[in-house]
Amino acid sequence: MSDATDLQNLAFAAARAAEDAAIAASVWIGRSDKEAADQAAVDALRTGLNAMPMRGRIVIGEGERDEAPMLFIGEEVGTGSGPEIDIALDPLEGTSLTAKGMANALAVLALSPRGGLLHAPDTYMDKIAVGPGLPRGVVDLDNSVEDNIRSLAKAKGCEVGDITACVLERERHQKIMDALRSLGCRVILIPDGDVAGVIATTDPDTGIDIYIGQGGAPEGVLAASALRCVGGQMQTRLFFRNDDERARAAKTGVKDLNRKYSLNELASKDCMFIATGVTDGTLLDGVHKTGEFIETETLIMQSADKSVRRLFSRRPKGA
Ligand code: FBP
Repeated sequence: MSDATDLQNLAFAAARAAEDAAIAASVWIGRSDKEAADQAAVDALRTGLNAMPMRGRIVIGEGERDEAPMLFIGEEVGTGSGPEIDIALDPLEGTSLTAKGMANALAVLALSPRGGLLHAPDTYMDKIAVGPGLPRGVVDLDNSVEDNIRSLAKAKGCEVGDITACVLERERHQKIMDALRSLGCRVILIPDGDVAGVIATTDPDTGIDIYIGQGGAPEGVLAASALRCVGGQMQTRLFFRNDDERARAAKTGVKDLNRKYSLNELASKDCMFIATGVTDGTLLDGVHKTGEFIETETLIMQSADKSVRRLFSRRPKGA
């Protein structure tokens, strides 16, 4: 069977696992306990993954084996028969968003044939991303913010002041925000959740043209797998705060610590990206309880046929 068929066959079970994680996390919305929310999502996602007919291996997970008892990097999941699948996941992307009852928390995973996703260490990553339909190389991580925005505006046939950028609201991004504002760009600040921030560049309805900034490296690989499915460009570079992080990167097999990764290096083979909304957001509706039922919305994107499916699901509570 082809890789694409293998992924296709796993789509429904993977979506169900993401739904389970989102529902479990949703119990903790607005309860100021991000650890409990995360743990609930981890437990549910792990149970779902272990029911899937695959020889799954976590390549991006909750951390290394000594620090994460479940869904650690290298953990084998699935029934143990079926295709060899690598999995990147973030059972709860937006633990703080969930704890504070804020928008855009997601349960996220990406699946690929073995070797198809970068084994990124749990460090920071500089990221730049734009949506589909633009000339190759229109932005470059090594160019200044000003040069990138001018190039993007030219490619889009608009003024630099018409460009809208999405940036994680962090002190470390002050220079980026200053540069964008001095060009007259609109800056949409997000409190957390840069997977959704990057994906927003691919959806004209969001009005977001570009994502710039530094966030988690695991989230970078997840976002790249989504872009591989729907088109767009992304470049990243790992960022290390200390020698410990450099050592961790070396342990995951990173040889050149300064390497600039393209989208196709982050997600190098056909992949499937799945996300279920936990709280309502720009990308997806969150978990809703209506009477005896629980409703979820899940995105299933596949790179092989560039398909995007939105799965609305309603199930009796407790099912
Ligand atoms: P949570 O840890 O609360 O789930 O936050 C996720 C996130 O906002 C990612 O989307 C982002 O890549 C990363 O954290 C940014 O890290 P930091 O909060 O340390 O700037």
